[in-house]
Amino acid sequence: MSGLTSEPSESVDPGSSAPAGAAPPAVIVLAAGGGTRMKSAKSKLLHEVAGHPLLSYALAAATQIQPQEIVVVVGHQRDQVQAHLAEIAPHVRTAVQEEQLGTGHAVQCGLAALSDLDRLPNEIVVTYGDVPMLTGETLLDLVEDHRSQRAGVTVLTAVVADPTGYGRVVRDADGGVTGIVEHRDADDEVRSITEINSGIYVFDSAVLVAGLDGLTADNDQGELYLTDVLTHARSAGRTVAGHLIDDAWQTEGINDRVQLSAMSAEMNRRILVGWMRAGVTVQDPATTWVHASVDLAPDVTLLPGTSLEGATSVGAGATIGPEVSLKDVEVGEGATVVRTHGELSVIGPGAEVGPYARLRPGTRLGVKGKIGTFVETKNARIGDRSKVPHQSYVGDAEIGVGVNVGAGVIFANYDGVTKSTTVVGDYSFVGSNAVLAAPLTVGAGAFVAAGSTITGDVDPGDLGVARGQQRNIRGWVLRKRAGTKIATAAQDALDAAAEDRSAQSGPDDR
Ligand code: UD1
Ligand code: CA
Repeated sequence: MSGLTSEPSESVDPGSSAPAGAAPPAVIVLAAGGGTRMKSAKSKLLHEVAGHPLLSYALAAATQIQPQEIVVVVGHQRDQVQAHLAEIAPHVRTAVQEEQLGTGHAVQCGLAALSDLDRLPNEIVVTYGDVPMLTGETLLDLVEDHRSQRAGVTVLTAVVADPTGYGRVVRDADGGVTGIVEHRDADDEVRSITEINSGIYVFDSAVLVAGLDGLTADNDQGELYLTDVLTHARSAGRTVAGHLIDDAWQTEGINDRVQLSAMSAEMNRRILVGWMRAGVTVQDPATTWVHASVDLAPDVTLLPGTSLEGATSVGAGATIGPEVSLKDVEVGEGATVVRTHGELSVIGPGAEVGPYARLRPGTRLGVKGKIGTFVETKNARIGDRSKVPHQSYVGDAEIGVGVNVGAGVIFANYDGVTKSTTVVGDYSFVGSNAVLAAPLTVGAGAFVAAGSTITGDVDPGDLGVARGQQRNIRGWVLRKRAGTKIATAAQDALDAAAEDRSAQSGPDDR
């Protein structure tokens, strides 16, 4: 699938530089930057791709390498970031970087948060909080490569069409990495290099500590550059390895909302490709959006304009769309959902929903049930084979099996103060345009007459009628609307009926 759901694989090459049984690495996630180009009151790291905040992807990837510790270095808008972390990943440590003095300084802050450990893990993995496509598999490969090359540092790199702004990976004739030069510090020759530094690395922790100690802010930005640790490692005689990946998206950071939407589209494309390979028909991938957390069965069909979010799941053979958005909705096998908006609801196997239905939280539609055109439901259990086909509001209802709810029926659940429940028993029939003013119970096998406003219980087998008697005032139109088209039509119809009667009775009968 998209790589978001894959399990961590068995860890390392036994011939690696790490001693057998060595403690796993620590991961430091850099996330203190300002994200000013987002122009948002919300931290950049909490903006979402495919339904999950950017930061949660960084944590998911880090978690897959089963690290000893994860430290997130926070700074800008850290209250928001820390609150989010406390909610989704209370086990991670945070380190505060008060002032953003550079990536090297950020890692110093991260290491300080590990100072209570008896000893540092042998390896420190550094990643960014704003690189959502990076997978745990890639981090595992990176660590494995680092170990098999017995490197002091291994940097994740990619070749990109436009490397502007990135640090460039400078290699010697043998392909060894000699260092990383920032775009703004680079001459034309270095700028012509298209292999870029992703900013994701594995460090031997001793190499990292020594390199950070030696950092100076001797560069165009006056910052402490983490990349200078690589130069330091190389002069100390350690191998600096470059781990090049083909999938450059995995190194792509998000800085603004244009990149956010491009990343969302690519993530969605990958999710849909995964589902199509797993047996789902997606008629129009360009207008179909499926979040990473959604689960689809084989032979599901998604029609144009479908958006599936949260913990939504769709059973085998169901058809969703066109124009459907579902969030946290469970759709049963073989159901059809057309032009519908649904949240926190269950749609039973073989059920039909829409077009133009709105399922609010707590809707549970049974097997082969129907919620039809312009129907709104809320906290409503609608039993197997029961139907609410047209223009109804069904709020706070317990409807049995095989019930027919006529067109325009309103379950009036709110008296202005409290909400109450309406119960409708099995196989009852509620006539069109009835109002059921809760609380009340319509028994099993009962009838409610069309147009009734029902305010009390209707017992099983009874017919509830609550409406004015019909009364026709003979000749009213001819008297009160004489000379109008209405009156003419009435007179013509009356004359025709009279002629019919006389033709039927015949002259002989007189
Ligand atoms: C950095 C790398 C560059 C690489 C690029 C990849 C350095 C000196 N340069 O560039 O080689 O190609 O990433 O995107 O490392 N951060 C902090 N605290 C700081 C500074 C940064 O936490 O003081 C975090 C940011 O939130 C961000 C990450 O580190 O997640 C990278 O920062 P950014 O300013 O984007 O790095 P660049 O200078 O663009
Ligand atoms: Ca960046």
